[in-house]
Amino acid sequence: MTRTILITGGTSGFGAAAVSRFLAGGWRVIATGRRAERLQALVDAHGSERLHTAAFDIRDEAAMHAALDALPAEFRGIDALVNNAGLALGTAPAQRADLAQWRQMIDTNVTALVTLTHALLPTLIERRGAILNVSSIAGSYPYPGGNTYGGTKAFVTQFSLGLRSDLHGTGVRVTSIEPGLAETEFTLVRTSGDQGASDTLYAGTQPIVADDIAETLWWVANLPPHLNINRLEVMPVSQSFGGFQIHRDA
Ligand SMILES: NC(=O)c1ccc[n+]([C@@H]2O[C@H](COP(=O)([O-])OP(=O)(O)OC[C@H]3O[C@@H](n4cnc5c(N)ncnc54)[C@H](OP(=O)(O)O)[C@@H]3O)[C@@H](O)[C@H]2O)c1
Repeated sequence: MTRTILITGGTSGFGAAAVSRFLAGGWRVIATGRRAERLQALVDAHGSERLHTAAFDIRDEAAMHAALDALPAEFRGIDALVNNAGLALGTAPAQRADLAQWRQMIDTNVTALVTLTHALLPTLIERRGAILNVSSIAGSYPYPGGNTYGGTKAFVTQFSLGLRSDLHGTGVRVTSIEPGLAETEFTLVRTSGDQGASDTLYAGTQPIVADDIAETLWWVANLPPHLNINRLEVMPVSQSFGGFQIHRDA
Protein backbone atom coordinates (compact mmCIF):
# COMPACT_ATOMS: atom_id res chain seq x y z
CA MET A 1 0.00 0.00 0.00
CA THR A 2 1.36 3.42 -0.95
CA ARG A 3 1.74 5.63 2.09
CA THR A 4 1.22 9.40 2.09
CA ILE A 5 3.32 12.04 3.84
CA LEU A 6 2.68 15.77 4.19
CA ILE A 7 5.87 17.81 4.40
CA THR A 8 5.68 21.50 5.28
CA GLY A 9 8.48 23.74 4.05
CA GLY A 10 8.98 21.57 0.98
CA THR A 11 10.43 24.43 -1.06
CA SER A 12 13.91 24.46 0.45
CA GLY A 13 16.45 22.79 2.72
CA PHE A 14 15.41 19.78 4.78
CA GLY A 15 11.86 19.81 3.44
CA ALA A 16 12.81 19.84 -0.26
CA ALA A 17 15.31 17.02 0.31
CA ALA A 18 12.68 15.04 2.21
CA VAL A 19 10.21 15.46 -0.65
CA SER A 20 12.72 13.85 -3.02
CA ARG A 21 13.64 11.12 -0.52
CA PHE A 22 10.08 10.00 0.15
CA LEU A 23 9.13 10.15 -3.54
CA ALA A 24 12.20 8.04 -4.38
CA GLY A 25 11.11 5.59 -1.67
CA GLY A 26 7.70 5.15 -3.27
CA TRP A 27 5.57 7.31 -0.97
CA ARG A 28 2.90 9.77 -2.04
CA VAL A 29 4.00 13.28 -1.00
CA ILE A 30 2.16 16.51 -0.27
CA ALA A 31 4.62 19.42 -0.26
CA THR A 32 3.76 22.88 1.03
CA GLY A 33 5.47 26.28 1.19
CA ARG A 34 4.87 29.86 0.14
CA ARG A 35 7.05 29.88 -3.00
CA ALA A 36 4.75 28.48 -5.68
CA GLU A 37 7.53 28.51 -8.32
CA ARG A 38 9.64 26.19 -6.15
CA LEU A 39 6.70 23.83 -5.73
CA GLN A 40 6.13 23.90 -9.50
CA ALA A 41 9.81 23.01 -9.99
CA LEU A 42 9.26 19.93 -7.81
CA VAL A 43 6.31 18.90 -9.98
CA ASP A 44 8.41 19.52 -13.12
CA ALA A 45 11.14 17.28 -11.69
CA HIS A 46 9.01 14.49 -10.21
CA GLY A 47 5.65 14.62 -11.99
CA SER A 48 2.31 14.83 -10.25
CA GLU A 49 1.26 11.20 -10.00
CA ARG A 50 2.60 10.82 -6.46
CA LEU A 51 3.25 14.51 -5.69
CA HIS A 52 0.68 17.11 -4.74
CA THR A 53 1.73 20.66 -3.90
CA ALA A 54 -0.06 23.41 -2.04
CA ALA A 55 1.27 26.98 -1.93
CA PHE A 56 0.17 28.92 1.13
CA ASP A 57 1.55 30.82 4.06
CA ILE A 58 1.39 28.40 6.94
CA ARG A 59 0.47 31.24 9.30
CA ASP A 60 -2.77 31.72 7.34
CA GLU A 61 -5.16 29.30 9.01
CA ALA A 62 -7.93 29.73 6.42
CA ALA A 63 -5.49 29.05 3.58
CA MET A 64 -4.21 25.98 5.43
CA HIS A 65 -7.71 24.56 5.80
CA ALA A 66 -8.54 25.41 2.16
CA ALA A 67 -5.44 23.49 1.04
CA LEU A 68 -6.40 20.48 3.15
CA ASP A 69 -9.99 20.63 1.86
CA ALA A 70 -8.68 20.74 -1.72
CA LEU A 71 -6.54 17.60 -1.41
CA PRO A 72 -7.27 15.12 -4.20
CA ALA A 73 -8.93 11.93 -2.93
CA GLU A 74 -5.79 9.82 -3.26
CA PHE A 75 -3.81 12.24 -1.07
CA ARG A 76 -6.32 12.46 1.77
CA GLY A 77 -5.19 9.45 3.74
CA ILE A 78 -2.19 11.08 5.39
CA ASP A 79 0.05 8.58 7.20
CA ALA A 80 2.81 10.92 8.26
CA LEU A 81 3.13 14.64 8.95
CA VAL A 82 6.51 16.36 8.87
CA ASN A 83 6.21 19.70 10.62
CA ASN A 84 9.32 21.22 9.10
CA ALA A 85 8.41 24.76 7.96
CA GLY A 86 10.11 27.19 10.26
CA LEU A 87 12.67 29.89 10.59
CA ALA A 88 14.98 31.92 12.77
CA LEU A 89 15.00 35.68 12.30
CA GLY A 90 17.80 37.84 13.63
CA THR A 91 20.75 37.20 15.90
CA ALA A 92 20.51 40.28 18.11
CA PRO A 93 20.31 39.97 21.89
CA ALA A 94 16.79 40.17 23.29
CA GLN A 95 17.20 43.77 24.39
CA ARG A 96 17.88 44.82 20.79
CA ALA A 97 15.63 42.34 18.99
CA ASP A 98 12.79 43.20 16.64
CA LEU A 99 9.45 42.24 18.20
CA ALA A 100 7.89 41.66 14.76
CA GLN A 101 10.56 39.04 14.07
CA TRP A 102 9.83 37.35 17.39
CA ARG A 103 6.15 37.23 16.53
CA GLN A 104 6.81 35.82 13.07
CA MET A 105 8.90 33.00 14.57
CA ILE A 106 6.22 32.18 17.14
CA ASP A 107 3.44 32.34 14.51
CA THR A 108 5.36 30.05 12.13
CA ASN A 109 7.29 27.67 14.37
CA VAL A 110 4.65 27.28 17.09
CA THR A 111 1.15 28.48 16.20
CA ALA A 112 1.09 27.14 12.64
CA LEU A 113 2.65 23.85 13.73
CA VAL A 114 0.04 23.19 16.39
CA THR A 115 -2.77 24.32 14.07
CA LEU A 116 -1.80 21.88 11.32
CA THR A 117 -1.19 19.10 13.80
CA HIS A 118 -4.61 19.67 15.36
CA ALA A 119 -6.26 19.55 11.93
CA LEU A 120 -4.58 16.27 10.99
CA LEU A 121 -4.82 14.39 14.30
CA PRO A 122 -8.10 12.63 13.46
CA THR A 123 -6.64 11.28 10.20
CA LEU A 124 -3.34 10.34 11.82
CA ILE A 125 -5.12 8.49 14.62
CA GLU A 126 -7.39 6.70 12.16
CA ARG A 127 -4.35 5.56 10.18
CA ARG A 128 -2.01 4.90 13.14
CA GLY A 129 0.30 7.44 11.55
CA ALA A 130 3.37 9.40 12.57
CA ILE A 131 4.24 12.99 13.43
CA LEU A 132 7.81 14.10 12.81
CA ASN A 133 8.48 17.52 14.25
CA VAL A 134 11.61 19.38 13.18
CA SER A 135 12.84 21.05 16.33
CA SER A 136 16.46 22.12 16.94
CA ILE A 137 19.32 21.80 19.38
CA ALA A 138 18.53 25.49 19.99
CA GLY A 139 15.55 24.25 22.01
CA SER A 140 17.86 22.54 24.51
CA TYR A 141 21.07 24.57 24.51
CA PRO A 142 20.78 28.35 24.72
CA TYR A 143 23.20 30.64 22.92
CA PRO A 144 23.48 34.42 22.64
CA GLY A 145 20.92 35.71 20.15
CA GLY A 146 18.91 32.48 20.19
CA ASN A 147 16.23 33.90 22.51
CA THR A 148 12.82 33.46 20.81
CA TYR A 149 14.01 30.98 18.19
CA GLY A 150 15.29 28.68 20.93
CA GLY A 151 12.05 29.22 22.83
CA THR A 152 9.95 28.16 19.85
CA LYS A 153 12.02 25.01 19.41
CA ALA A 154 11.84 24.14 23.11
CA PHE A 155 8.09 24.31 22.60
CA VAL A 156 8.27 21.99 19.59
CA THR A 157 10.26 19.41 21.55
CA GLN A 158 8.02 19.54 24.63
CA PHE A 159 4.86 19.55 22.51
CA SER A 160 6.14 16.42 20.77
CA LEU A 161 6.67 14.65 24.09
CA GLY A 162 3.26 15.78 25.29
CA LEU A 163 1.62 14.48 22.13
CA ARG A 164 3.21 11.12 22.80
CA SER A 165 1.51 11.01 26.18
CA ASP A 166 -1.88 12.04 24.84
CA LEU A 167 -1.68 9.64 21.90
CA HIS A 168 -0.88 6.73 24.17
CA GLY A 169 -2.65 3.64 22.89
CA THR A 170 -3.52 5.10 19.49
CA GLY A 171 -0.50 3.68 17.69
CA VAL A 172 0.47 7.17 16.50
CA ARG A 173 4.21 7.79 16.72
CA VAL A 174 5.73 11.17 17.53
CA THR A 175 9.33 12.24 17.13
CA SER A 176 11.20 15.45 17.83
CA ILE A 177 14.15 15.74 15.47
CA GLU A 178 16.73 18.21 16.72
CA PRO A 179 19.42 19.12 14.20
CA GLY A 180 22.49 21.21 14.90
CA LEU A 181 24.46 23.31 12.41
CA ALA A 182 23.02 22.65 8.96
CA GLU A 183 23.69 24.47 5.70
CA THR A 184 20.40 25.28 4.00
CA GLU A 185 18.77 28.66 3.32
CA PHE A 186 18.30 28.94 7.09
CA THR A 187 21.10 31.46 7.71
CA LEU A 188 20.25 33.48 4.61
CA VAL A 189 16.72 33.83 5.96
CA ARG A 190 17.98 34.58 9.47
CA THR A 191 20.28 37.37 8.25
CA SER A 192 17.79 38.82 5.71
CA GLY A 193 19.79 37.55 2.74
CA ASP A 194 23.38 38.11 3.87
CA GLN A 195 25.23 35.51 1.78
CA GLY A 196 28.56 36.53 3.31
CA ALA A 197 27.31 35.86 6.84
CA SER A 198 25.94 32.49 5.75
CA ASP A 199 29.20 31.51 4.01
CA THR A 200 31.25 32.60 7.03
CA LEU A 201 29.17 30.55 9.45
CA TYR A 202 29.58 27.31 7.51
CA ALA A 203 33.14 27.84 6.21
CA GLY A 204 35.36 24.86 7.00
CA THR A 205 32.77 23.17 9.23
CA GLN A 206 31.39 20.32 7.11
CA PRO A 207 27.88 21.04 8.43
CA ILE A 208 24.82 18.82 8.22
CA VAL A 209 23.33 19.00 4.72
CA ALA A 210 19.68 18.73 3.80
CA ASP A 211 20.00 15.15 2.54
CA ASP A 212 21.32 14.07 5.97
CA ILE A 213 18.09 15.16 7.64
CA ALA A 214 15.97 13.77 4.79
CA GLU A 215 17.62 10.40 5.40
CA THR A 216 16.97 10.73 9.14
CA LEU A 217 13.30 11.49 8.51
CA TRP A 218 13.12 8.54 6.14
CA TRP A 219 14.64 6.21 8.76
CA VAL A 220 12.31 7.40 11.52
CA ALA A 221 9.19 7.16 9.34
CA ASN A 222 10.03 3.65 8.18
CA LEU A 223 10.84 2.01 11.49
CA PRO A 224 8.69 -0.96 12.48
CA PRO A 225 5.37 0.27 13.94
CA HIS A 226 6.19 -0.86 17.50
CA LEU A 227 9.18 1.51 17.75
CA ASN A 228 9.11 5.22 18.59
CA ILE A 229 12.10 7.54 18.49
CA ASN A 230 11.13 10.19 21.04
CA ARG A 231 13.93 12.69 20.44
CA LEU A 232 16.82 12.63 18.05
CA GLU A 233 19.70 15.13 18.32
CA VAL A 234 21.82 15.27 15.18
CA MET A 235 24.97 17.36 14.98
CA PRO A 236 27.90 17.59 12.62
CA VAL A 237 31.07 16.22 14.20
CA SER A 238 32.54 19.71 13.90
CA GLN A 239 30.03 21.11 16.41
CA SER A 240 30.03 20.45 20.16
CA PHE A 241 29.45 22.19 23.48
CA GLY A 242 31.07 25.45 24.53
CA GLY A 243 30.33 25.88 28.22
CA PHE A 244 29.05 28.88 30.15
CA GLN A 245 29.99 32.52 29.81
CA ILE A 246 31.02 34.50 32.90
CA HIS A 247 30.74 38.26 33.13
CA ARG A 248 33.31 40.08 35.30
CA ASP A 249 32.99 43.67 36.45
CA ALA A 250 35.71 45.83 34.97
N1 LIG B 1 19.48 24.81 9.12
C1 LIG B 1 19.68 24.64 10.42
O1 LIG B 1 20.79 24.90 10.94
C2 LIG B 1 18.58 24.09 11.28
C3 LIG B 1 18.95 23.47 12.48
C4 LIG B 1 17.94 22.95 13.30
C5 LIG B 1 16.63 23.07 12.92
N2 LIG B 1 16.28 23.69 11.75
C6 LIG B 1 14.86 23.77 11.41
O2 LIG B 1 14.65 23.02 10.24
C7 LIG B 1 13.46 23.47 9.60
C8 LIG B 1 13.75 23.64 8.11
O3 LIG B 1 14.71 24.65 7.96
P1 LIG B 1 15.86 24.61 6.85
O4 LIG B 1 17.17 24.60 7.56
O5 LIG B 1 15.57 23.60 5.84
O6 LIG B 1 15.70 26.13 6.27
P2 LIG B 1 15.19 26.68 4.86
O7 LIG B 1 16.03 26.15 3.76
O8 LIG B 1 15.14 28.17 5.05
O9 LIG B 1 13.70 26.10 4.72
C9 LIG B 1 12.64 26.59 5.51
C10 LIG B 1 11.32 26.16 4.90
O10 LIG B 1 10.24 26.67 5.74
C11 LIG B 1 9.27 27.25 4.89
N3 LIG B 1 8.56 28.34 5.56
C12 LIG B 1 9.08 29.32 6.33
N4 LIG B 1 8.12 30.19 6.67
C13 LIG B 1 6.97 29.75 6.11
C14 LIG B 1 5.63 30.23 6.08
N5 LIG B 1 5.26 31.36 6.72
N6 LIG B 1 4.70 29.53 5.40
C15 LIG B 1 5.04 28.39 4.75
N7 LIG B 1 6.28 27.89 4.74
C16 LIG B 1 7.24 28.56 5.41
C17 LIG B 1 10.05 27.77 3.70
O11 LIG B 1 9.19 27.84 2.56
P3 LIG B 1 8.78 29.21 1.82
O12 LIG B 1 9.84 30.23 2.09
O13 LIG B 1 8.65 28.83 0.37
O14 LIG B 1 7.47 29.57 2.43
C18 LIG B 1 11.10 26.69 3.50
O15 LIG B 1 10.60 25.67 2.67
C19 LIG B 1 13.05 24.74 10.32
O16 LIG B 1 11.98 24.45 11.21
C20 LIG B 1 14.30 25.13 11.09
O17 LIG B 1 14.01 25.88 12.24
C21 LIG B 1 17.24 24.19 10.90
